[in-house]
Amino acid sequence: MPRVRVTRRVHWNSAHRLYRPDWPDERNARVFGVCANPHGHGHNYEMDVTVAGEVDPETGYVLDLKVLRDLVEARVVTDLDHRNLNVEVTWLAGQVPTTENLVVAIWNRLVDQLPRGVTLERIVLWETPRNYVEYTGDPVPTGDEA
Ligand code: NI
Repeated sequence: MPRVRVTRRVHWNSAHRLYRPDWPDERNARVFGVCANPHGHGHNYEMDVTVAGEVDPETGYVLDLKVLRDLVEARVVTDLDHRNLNVEVTWLAGQVPTTENLVVAIWNRLVDQLPRGVTLERIVLWETPRNYVEYTGDPVPTGDEA
């Protein structure tokens, strides 16, 4: 069976502020610049979620895209849309809400939720039209390291 990658694109808005509460203001300002401004700022996030699997010979689908859409909506977008990432999202608690930390947290929200035979391949998360991050999961340990 051919193995095909399928991508769903989603969109939401969030507010955030990049700072560490355990650092003094001066250090936050030096490291995070205007992103540390006290009242925060917003982004229009765009995200491509790519999964892969074999094409079902009966349906011609890897999976029903509605299933992927509903999963991403329920596990990710509902929690983030029109929210403040620093204070309103339990699964981001204690993390600086950079795009890097966000993409890994989103990956962990989705990776074990897919239908049997379908794997999460890649997430591309755009914070601005010019900045994006990409995550494909960490390499699976081989067990050779001891
Ligand atoms: Ni920002």
